[in-house]
Amino acid sequence: MGKYNKYNLKNYKWAMVTGASSGIGKQFAIQLAKKGLNTVLIGRNTEALTEVADSIHKNSNSSVVIIGGDLVSDIDMIIDNTRKFNVNLLINCAGRGLYGDFVDYECDDYEKMIRLNIEVLTKLSYHYTKQMIQTQEGGIINIASVAGFLPMPHFSVYAATKAYVYNFSLALWAELKPSNIHVLCVAPGKTQTQFFERAKMDPGRKLMSPEKVVAGALKAYEKGSPLYIPGFGNKLVYQVVRRLFTDKFITNILEEYF
Ligand SMILES: NC(=O)c1ccc[n+]([C@@H]2O[C@H](COP(=O)([O-])OP(=O)(O)OC[C@H]3O[C@@H](n4cnc5c(N)ncnc54)[C@H](OP(=O)(O)O)[C@@H]3O)[C@@H](O)[C@H]2O)c1
Repeated sequence: MGKYNKYNLKNYKWAMVTGASSGIGKQFAIQLAKKGLNTVLIGRNTEALTEVADSIHKNSNSSVVIIGGDLVSDIDMIIDNTRKFNVNLLINCAGRGLYGDFVDYECDDYEKMIRLNIEVLTKLSYHYTKQMIQTQEGGIINIASVAGFLPMPHFSVYAATKAYVYNFSLALWAELKPSNIHVLCVAPGKTQTQFFERAKMDPGRKLMSPEKVVAGALKAYEKGSPLYIPGFGNKLVYQVVRRLFTDKFITNILEEYF
């Protein structure tokens, strides 16, 4: 453990990773297994989850459990199937976005997104926090987004769900500190994953690698930071742009260029 680390991930036995079949969640699974943690991997695509498990088995002695299911409709089944594991670390990574004019999508599409990005994340946090409080040890890593710091025209519902994740996570961080439960909010900017294809959005250029995002997030977790924003440009949005300009000004600019 590094000199300044407050939370050593190697003390944890089981990590549960939602959205482990691709992108950022898959990287969390791989990098946590490298640190010696056993992992419970959640996603709908069981073939992709099996590939992640195979690659973990090739590179470590960690145990891997796969639970295939839709977090929106099968959440209770998924929680039931994890009861025998003492999950010390919850990674809420499953999430999705929808890019376009607000009325371009069915309301039902937004409802499903809100349920996944907000309700599922909250319910899993609640369930595992209750377990962690009993052992007075554990942690949660919630994946928000830089989009959550801004009102975003054409990405309005997604950005608003991530604003919830940001505020919820920071509040829990402060509340759970006395119970030795650490909560980290990760707010990535554009990252090279399947997110853009699913969100029907052009990713543009300059994407970060999920490997870098996750390596930085795990370091930030061990240091005990409540918030990790990968990349200089994204940090600038949080620390400078938001403080220098009014929300009205930023939103008008985003409406024109985003
Ligand atoms: N990529 C970016 O630029 C970026 C930037 C900021 C924040 N984020 C956030 O990062 C997180 C991970 O996204 P990603 O970029 O890694 O995208 P991704 O490659 O599309 O991964 C999304 C993951 O979520 C899972 N998922 C989606 N809907 C699900 C459902 N109903 N039930 C169970 N699992 C579900 C997917 O698994 P299955 O398909 O197997 O179900 C997949 O593993 C998301 O919360 C996203 O909002 C991404």
